[in-house]
Amino acid sequence: MNTKGLGRPIIREIVKIVEETELTKTFYFNGEGLFAKPGQFYMLWLPEIDEKPISACITNIEEGFIGLSIKKVGRFTEEIQQRKIGDKVGIRGPFGKGFNHEKGRKAIFIAGGIGIAPIRSIFDLLKKEQEELVLIYGAQTDSDLVFKEYFTQFTNNVTYCTDDGSFGYHGFPTDILRNFLEKEIKKGGELNYSIYGCGSELFLKAVLDLIASIDQSLLTHTQLSLADRYMRCGVGLCGSCIIDDTGLSVCKDGPVFTGEILAKTTDFGIYGRNPDGSKSKIQPHY
Ligand code: FES
Repeated sequence: MNTKGLGRPIIREIVKIVEETELTKTFYFNGEGLFAKPGQFYMLWLPEIDEKPISACITNIEEGFIGLSIKKVGRFTEEIQQRKIGDKVGIRGPFGKGFNHEKGRKAIFIAGGIGIAPIRSIFDLLKKEQEELVLIYGAQTDSDLVFKEYFTQFTNNVTYCTDDGSFGYHGFPTDILRNFLEKEIKKGGELNYSIYGCGSELFLKAVLDLIASIDQSLLTHTQLSLADRYMRCGVGLCGSCIIDDTGLSVCKDGPVFTGEILAKTTDFGIYGRNPDGSKSKIQPHY
């Protein structure tokens, strides 16, 4: 069944569950008809509960499965975390425009909290072909860091950060990104990097502002996923995810946007939208 339009959800059984941390589990499904490009998302439906956007995370076409990593942050995610192997959920998608792999450039991944889920999807694509991968990943505390052992199998250049200092660098991922880029500039070379980011919108705004302050030309090579935004229909119809004053929808034109586009919006990092379409100030969270 094609679910790429407005289609009804595909109903799929959960075939495996991995408890990544106290708050995050990865749910595995048969991937037939559901394989996503890095950075795309699905609408996950729990009958009689709700339907919510969930980022594509693990896509294994060879072995025929997908994995969605979901952190417990509210009623919907609490409900899904109660589900067991063999339970069924509805999945629409994949939707949206994902990350664009810029060939010939080195990669920096920067993630905050569960924003690591879509970052893993682009990391998995690039790890097959790229030598230099830099990952900077922050969370509130050690027990919120997901896939810690996974990334270090593919690159030595991983920096974990925690707000409380319980693991890795005690501070923000943006501190590490600033140091890294400034060191590269001191070496005298061109900043031949693509930067892929996801996390809360305030976090992404801090990333964007930092990059703009260091080298404006890097904005075109910066791709940030706004998967954290409220989305209701997922297909560009309801208007609940429109970003002022561009008229772009996060679900159809994004959720990944270049830094160049985001720098021109008036809402990014300041206002999000409520379910009724009204705007409200974005609150800090991981
Ligand atoms: S979620 Fe409906 S327009 Fe984007």
